[in-house]
Amino acid sequence: YPVESIRNFSIIAHVDHGKSTLADRLLEITGTIAKTHHNKQVLDKLQVERERGITVKAQSASLFYSHEGANYLLNLIDTPGHVDFSYEVSRSLSACQGVLLVVDANEGIQAQTVANFYLAFEAQLAIIPVINKIDLKNADPERVEKQIEKLFDIPIDECVRISAKQGTNVEKVLQKVIEKIPPPQCNTADPLKALVFDSTFDHYRGVIANIALFGGEIQKGHKVVSAHTKKRYEVNEVGILTPNEQPTHKLYAGQVGYLIAGMKEVTEAQIGDTLFLYKQPVEPLPGFKSAKPMVFAGMYPVDQTEYNNLKSALERLTLNDSSVTVHRDSSLALGAGWRLGFLGLLHMEVFNQRLEQEYNMSVIVTAPTVPYKAVLSSAKLIKDRRAVQKDMLYIDERRVILKYLFPLNEIVVDFYDALKSLSSGYASFDYEDAGYQAADLIKMDILLNGNPVEELATIIHNDKAYATGKFLCERLKDAIPRQLFEIAIQAAIGKKIIARETLKAYRKNVVAKCYGGDITRRMKLLKRQAEGKKLMRKIGNVEVPRDAFIRVLKRQ
Ligand code: GTP
Repeated sequence: YPVESIRNFSIIAHVDHGKSTLADRLLEITGTIAKTHHNKQVLDKLQVERERGITVKAQSASLFYSHEGANYLLNLIDTPGHVDFSYEVSRSLSACQGVLLVVDANEGIQAQTVANFYLAFEAQLAIIPVINKIDLKNADPERVEKQIEKLFDIPIDECVRISAKQGTNVEKVLQKVIEKIPPPQCNTADPLKALVFDSTFDHYRGVIANIALFGGEIQKGHKVVSAHTKKRYEVNEVGILTPNEQPTHKLYAGQVGYLIAGMKEVTEAQIGDTLFLYKQPVEPLPGFKSAKPMVFAGMYPVDQTEYNNLKSALERLTLNDSSVTVHRDSSLALGAGWRLGFLGLLHMEVFNQRLEQEYNMSVIVTAPTVPYKAVLSSAKLIKDRRAVQKDMLYIDERRVILKYLFPLNEIVVDFYDALKSLSSGYASFDYEDAGYQAADLIKMDILLNGNPVEELATIIHNDKAYATGKFLCERLKDAIPRQLFEIAIQAAIGKKIIARETLKAYRKNVVAKCYGGDITRRMKLLKRQAEGKKLMRKIGNVEVPRDAFIRVLKRQ
């Protein structure tokens, strides 16, 4: 396939507007997969994607298409729609010259439609608007086309109206791809320049790197060098994804495919790296801006003997999801672990689920927090923590874009759900970082008989301190077993106590009760007590089972 007959494009859209369904139809009409009724979101291969019905990982597929006597090679990348995974979208776009911007004919333009449009626009890609779900009773494609024209300045006649579900007009989409998206600008005669835009770790074959060739060609036996590590490798296999790996003799400039080259360590296949031929160095491609984590949480193995297994699982999974940041951390109660940064709560949940499902790991995850910058000064400025309105733009008489400045900790936990239920599902939401702002934050300690419990100290907004303090004290009261003396459980800001619960002392000795009774029952109780002791942590004279921390720290 000469470069002129190659088209590389992504499908981008708001959540559920039908990207993966359109991808199914494109795979079918190009004969890449057989046409059956069972093809549902074929490119959503991960178990978590199937269970949740959402795409979390961009996925490539090469399609062969003949049109008016000419043969084309189309490389399609299906991308996630949820805001937490937009890093996947921006990386995918680096391997493309154009996008299909899918918009639901009923819902119209939504938050991630706008966000994804700008990702493609800034990357200077050709944009083809596709109005999907025209089969729906309430579909109003005309209104959506007007929105697109008004907001994105794309003429109405550039839009294609389709039903991905029923296959209506999907062929037209392919024709637009050929017409409107330019072939990649590169040359097979140039030296090899391959961008690693994604990678996965295979238990048997090591690292499988997804690459886009910006110059030259590559085949088995070639020696390649990583611009990042300067390490040299011999290529074992190259191929295309259809959507499963299919080995080919060579990959040429302009193509998107995969490469296996004996990289056994996850650190060797950095996403954003450039590969070139040994002794033919090239200027490396710019790579990717690293993702900026928004939500942080501690992660610990349930059992410390699992530490090393969890470490290697984390390395392998973060290779495939490079937007997660990992730093070593430790806690007196939970042992050695890590502090992980995620792009949002859904991202955090999906990551944990993948650890469980793909690596069989069970972990303790502590309550999520957002990053703060502390200024050590006695006068902290008191500011209104409510959102500040910045902008308002009507897309048409029924839709409006509102821009607000929010404290991140106000939106991170349940804002999205609250917004959805308040607007009966009509409102959608996207955010970007606006930097640090001064705020009335305080450090709240939790005390057991006057001794601070460091795992439970939190930074919190002044207004929320009382409610959270009370909540934590109540939870701890339920989680700590009664002991031989009374325990005061308190929440404190500095020296000021803001909440208190009292855990009464034991009245009776468990063993005394059945002394003289059944000896096996007595031994069983003593054994259980001894086992329990091992998992206790002493704070002052109070014994706290490890389990209690887990119950208090864990999100419900
Ligand atoms: P994410 O990847 O999670 O963002 O979703 P997506 O954009 O890939 O959407 P997906 O293809 O999973 O479709 C979402 C839902 O819309 C599914 O229930 C589809 O069956 C449905 N759907 C997709 N296309 C059409 C269509 O043309 N008509 C109708 N009626 N439903 C459609």
